Amino acid sequence: MKIISSIEELRDQLRGQLRTAFVPTMGNLHEGHLSLMRLARRHGDPVVASIFVNRLQFGPNEDFDKYPRSFQADVEKLEKEGVYVLFAPTEKDLYPEPQEYRVQPPDQLGNTLEGEFRPGFFTGVTTVVLKLFSCVQPKVAVFGKKDYQQLMIIRNMSKQFALPTEIIAAETWRADDGLALSSRNGYLSEAERKEAPVLYQTLNEVAADVRNARENGNLNLLAIEQKAMNKLAQRHWNPDYVSIRKRDDLQPPSAADLEKNAELVVLTAAKLGNTRLIDNLEI
Ligand code: PAJ
Repeated sequence: MKIISSIEELRDQLRGQLRTAFVPTMGNLHEGHLSLMRLARRHGDPVVASIFVNRLQFGPNEDFDKYPRSFQADVEKLEKEGVYVLFAPTEKDLYPEPQEYRVQPPDQLGNTLEGEFRPGFFTGVTTVVLKLFSCVQPKVAVFGKKDYQQLMIIRNMSKQFALPTEIIAAETWRADDGLALSSRNGYLSEAERKEAPVLYQTLNEVAADVRNARENGNLNLLAIEQKAMNKLAQRHWNPDYVSIRKRDDLQPPSAADLEKNAELVVLTAAKLGNTRLIDNLEI
């Protein structure tokens, strides 16, 4: 595997490649990330991964400085997956001057859910992803459903800018007890790690409540969401949201949408101690 930090060298290395499959990451790789590499391999060749902890997408009080970095271990994992190039730019490589041109996701999609609780987050994500796409020029790029809203925003960006990159979705990789793997799980204490699967259990309860209510014809989404929020709060979580949305645009479903049996997804973000976890489940 070639490890490249400069954009110019990356371009030289990938010149003429028409089927590149790309997996952008912020490193501290786990099985979830590696499952994306394997999916990428099925959709293109060569597989290119990137590791870059993108300052633009962190708020002033977020964990940019303490975000876990484990470069050597990451390199070994990627080598085992047959990744051809690891693009690992420094901040100077990727942002040699302040990144003043930025991508602005639409308010409806960019300022709700994660965007409401992390102002500027999706602008930071789309800006770096567009820039990474411009460096790598991939035919396909793989993103995880773990970050459901991020996936949708990037997919829409690629479509609206007519980028030549097809976005492919990978299923969420979970530990045996259901907890979605995340680089931030390492922040959890032993006791918190035991409690953490409750988040996914709660999503499953929401999904069951929605299905039951649909069968009985008395669907009250707010009541179901509130019940889940209360349960988490009682167990000493600090939930930002538990929200049932339409899968196709992540907006709250109207009565008419529900009549038409619109496909739904439930998304959540909640703090356990100092660690903020997100997860979602298609209903
Ligand atoms: P990061 O959190 O490192 O995630 C990189 C990719 O791995 C994302 O597409 C994410 O959805 C996916 N991923 C993370 N955990 C997963 C899991 N348990 N199962 C399946 N996929 C999982 O997301 C980012 O980095 C950044 O925002 C980035 C897109 C790289 C832009 O900076």
